[in-house]
Amino acid sequence: MSAVDVLLGLQWGDEGKGKIVDVLSARYGAVARFQGGPNAGHTIHFDGKKFVLHTIPSGIFREECQNIVGNGVVIDPIRFEQELIQLRHSGYQPERNLFISLRAHLILPSHRLLDAVSERAKGKDKIGSTLRGIGPTYMDKTGRNGLRVGDVFQADFEDRYARLKQKHMDIVRSIDSNAETELEDEASFFSSLEALRALRCVNTEYLLNEMLSRGESILAEGAQGTLLDVEFGTYPFVTSSNTTASGACSGLGISPRRIGKVMGIFKAYTTRVGSGPFPTELLDETGQKIRDQGFEYGSTTGRPRRCGWLDLVALQYAVMLNGVTDLMMMKSDVLSGFEELQLCTSYRYQSQDIKELPIELRGVSANYTRLAGWNEDLTQLKKAEQLPAALKQYIQFIEAATSTPISLVSVGPGREQTLFL
Ligand code: GDP
Ligand code: IMO
Ligand code: MG
Repeated sequence: MSAVDVLLGLQWGDEGKGKIVDVLSARYGAVARFQGGPNAGHTIHFDGKKFVLHTIPSGIFREECQNIVGNGVVIDPIRFEQELIQLRHSGYQPERNLFISLRAHLILPSHRLLDAVSERAKGKDKIGSTLRGIGPTYMDKTGRNGLRVGDVFQADFEDRYARLKQKHMDIVRSIDSNAETELEDEASFFSSLEALRALRCVNTEYLLNEMLSRGESILAEGAQGTLLDVEFGTYPFVTSSNTTASGACSGLGISPRRIGKVMGIFKAYTTRVGSGPFPTELLDETGQKIRDQGFEYGSTTGRPRRCGWLDLVALQYAVMLNGVTDLMMMKSDVLSGFEELQLCTSYRYQSQDIKELPIELRGVSANYTRLAGWNEDLTQLKKAEQLPAALKQYIQFIEAATSTPISLVSVGPGREQTLFL
């Protein structure tokens, strides 16, 4: 039976989802984003070119693959149009294989302002949001105030926009009476709606279910990562959507019975951008070495990413929550040249060793197991058999800890730097 395979991040985002979706999209009839918005930055390298996608699914470079922005996604029309323009400049015609859900919610300029004002008001407790307006837009969605893509085709759109904006401005003033309330990009917002209207905005839940009925398979592309999930992540330092596998059902309108594989992507180490607890974080030269070798700077905001060892307690949790069937280990090449590698196999919390994530990771420290490192450059390898013995042991250790097979090892950003096990 044709199925929806889900590909999602198991850590705090930036695991390399974009790269693998691009690689795998050749095997699917469609790629569909199910949550998040332009807080995501999915990088794809091929033929010496580099693209960073924020809202458009990572299957867009294969014309035969349909790309669907599902109902669970939040869309900023300004940034969306910029992405379309960037693709067109590079010779692609995204309108040919792109569909947008009429139910997807819109990020307004005033949502972005609200995001900035609320973050500023939090002071040292700030989330470290990408300030793309994600939180306020999902708040309006669940608060039943939001505007959706379908609304831009209605005659009363401007009135509804004005009412919602007014509401936002009242909140902004209540948080900070001195806050700037001029929205400089309102004109670009309205002009970018034209670009949105020109695309195929449809009931994507029908489109996807009809594809499944015809026997086509679909790849659901997650954004962010499991530890940023609003339910199970390191709350409140999370994003405002369900990044876990169940989000694919609600964010696309497909039944859980349709889910096939759940592919969980993780880096061979851990990174995090923004605030919040991070038990295996390395604040020393080893952390800096990982950042340098992995070029760990945010694809969306350019911020340096915090770096640390692989956290197997958190990885096991993510595997459990998502029902991961296949693990994919990214950026293995970055760990070349370390004499010894450490893996967190339990936490120390309130004078006890534990293997479960407490609801608050603050105050947790990591207990490590040490494994030998390797020095070989992996970036030119073509076959899994060529992997150094120490890396094979590292892989086996993770497979045993998670009781899940690793089916793919990535050894560089390029499409061809992908080894299937
Ligand atoms: P995403 O948000 O999960 O799609 O990941 P990002 O694109 O934000 O960050 C992943 C970064 O790592 C990008 O710059 C990728 O080009 C790069 N990358 C992906 N896989 C590998 C890999 O195996 N090795 C190296 N060195 N870089 C990789
Ligand atoms: P991709 O899809 C890494 C982080 C932010 C912040 C928190 C909340 O590229 O993996 P938000 O803007 O959602 O209010 O920010 O979540 N964050 C990400 N970190 N990768 C992402 O997406 C992220 N999207 C949001 O840094 O800590
Ligand atoms: Mg990213």
